[in-house]
This record gives sequence, structure tokens and C-alpha cells, in this order.
Amino acid sequence: MTLAVRVANIRDEALDIKSFELVSAQGNTLPAYSAGSHVAVHLNQGLTRQYSLCGAPGASDRYLIAVKREPNSRGGSAAMHALKVGDILTIGTPRNNFPLHAAASHHLLVAGGIGITPLLGMARELNATGASFDLQYFTRSIEHAPFHELLSQSQFRGKVKFHYALDPERVRAYLRRLLWHRPDQAHLYLCGPKPFMDLVEATAAPTWQPEAVHLEYFSADPASLSEQGEAFEIVIASTGAHYVVPPDKSIAQVLAENGTQVPTSCEQGVCGTCLTGVLDGEPDHRDVFLTDAEKRSGDRMMLCVSRARSPRITLDL
Ligand code: FES
Repeated sequence: MTLAVRVANIRDEALDIKSFELVSAQGNTLPAYSAGSHVAVHLNQGLTRQYSLCGAPGASDRYLIAVKREPNSRGGSAAMHALKVGDILTIGTPRNNFPLHAAASHHLLVAGGIGITPLLGMARELNATGASFDLQYFTRSIEHAPFHELLSQSQFRGKVKFHYALDPERVRAYLRRLLWHRPDQAHLYLCGPKPFMDLVEATAAPTWQPEAVHLEYFSADPASLSEQGEAFEIVIASTGAHYVVPPDKSIAQVLAENGTQVPTSCEQGVCGTCLTGVLDGEPDHRDVFLTDAEKRSGDRMMLCVSRARSPRITLDL
């Protein structure tokens, strides 16, 4: 389902980062959402991008998103930064792949840069409900820290710690002290650039069980996405039709060219929309949606980015 929204306000939040308040174009209320949710924003020329909702969860009169203008983006962040107040956009209804775990005794939120966006919604929710939490926020400087002013307000006093311009060795040392012990039933939520998330995840691994660590990625590993690999064959189980996927096309693209539309949204291996069963063959997973265990089981894959290690792969379509 999609919604028509109007850009009601645009604010410079930090260097190259703007926030956008979106209200219903028809003046209706918007669907409620839970902390950690995101929406797909449909931009011109078929571009769709996912952005975390960073307003107070439960608010239904407006959605707040924030977007960093990326010099190497494929057009999404540039299109967002070109928006003007009053522009009308189509967005999807909120979805949540990154929810808070209600039973947690403590929530540790760790943000790197623009990764603050889903964690801000979580911090607001946890603060409003009186739950135990703290937010560790790593950025290059105050000028690079979106929502710094908001998170410096008295309501967040003692719960938010800002870290600026720490060199990698000091970040590592701080994370080792932060994560050396997992308080009973605590959960860790992490969002930021992939190398930062890899570092936090690796530091937490000895003491934080995988089920207590929750990750929200912006995109799959750029290195794995740019690795082209070999051509391979896909087979549609229901019809027996088979097609060759060349090195420069995704499975989803080849299926679409041959009349089979698989639903897609982010096209970056992040959102889970194109998840499809695998009946035979070995996937070459390049997404960040499936867990390592799910990837090892090899019975599902993301058709927008993942490929095949075997010469042929049979899809449950
Ligand atoms: Fe989002 Fe494939 S479309 S993971």
C-alpha cells in the first residue's frame, strides 16, 4: 500500500544531512508505526529508497526522516536533497525489520553518523516509556551529528553519550570497555556505516549472543555488490522456464525482462522485499537482510543482489 505525502518542512540537521517532515497530502492521519520502522520513498525515474522514521513513534500526523547526501549515491540522496517544501511524494506504509525487544532489561543503542536515524526513534520511545537504555553516538564532529541539539536536551541527560573524532584505536578501546560484559537480558541495537558496524559487532561477539544483537544496514557491502561474478542459469520451478543471468544483471532484472515481476523495493539487499525460496543450487548471498544462519541454510535468497555459486539455481517461483 502506498501513501501520498506532502513535504511539510525541511531542516538542515548537520553537514550534508537534511530532515524532512512528511504529512498526508489529503490531510488524513498517517498509519502508526513502532520504533525502528522505515518507509520506502518512491522518487522520480523509478528510484525507491528506504529511510528510517526518526520521529516519536505513535505520532500519526507526520513522519520525520533524515537523509545524508552521498557523493557516490545512485541518485536517491541527491533527489531527496532537491525536494522543496510542498512537493508531493509517494511512500510505502511503515515496515519494521529492526524492532525493540520488549522483554529486554536494558537497551544499548550504538549509532555511527547518519545511523542515528532509526536509533533516535528508539531513544524517544524508550525515554517516553521509562525503559532502561543508553545511546552511544559516534560522529566526526558536532557539525556532522544530526539531531545533536535534540539529543542534548534535558530529557536525554545521562542517557546519550557523544563521541567525536575518535581515532580507530580509541574507538576500538572504548568499544571493548563498553561491550566486555552483557548485562543479563540486555539487547544491543546498532546502525551506521558498514565498517563501523562490523567493528562493533566483532567487539560484541565474545560476550553478546547473536540473538541479543540487532543490526540495521543502509546498504549491502559495496565491495560484495560490485563483485560481478560469473553468469549462471536460473530455473523457475513452477514452469520449468530457465534463463541465463549475465555478470552485469541481477536475477530480478532478468526475471523482469522475461515477464516475471518479483516485488522489489531497495534493490540493495537490505529490505527483504524480494526474498525468494531456493529449491536447488547454491546461492551466493550478497545481502545484509538474512542472518548468517539463514544464509548457511541456503533455502532462501534475495533476488535483487544475490547470485549463484552453482552453475544453475532453481527458484521457488
Ligand atoms: Fe530489498 Fe531485494 S529489494 S532486499
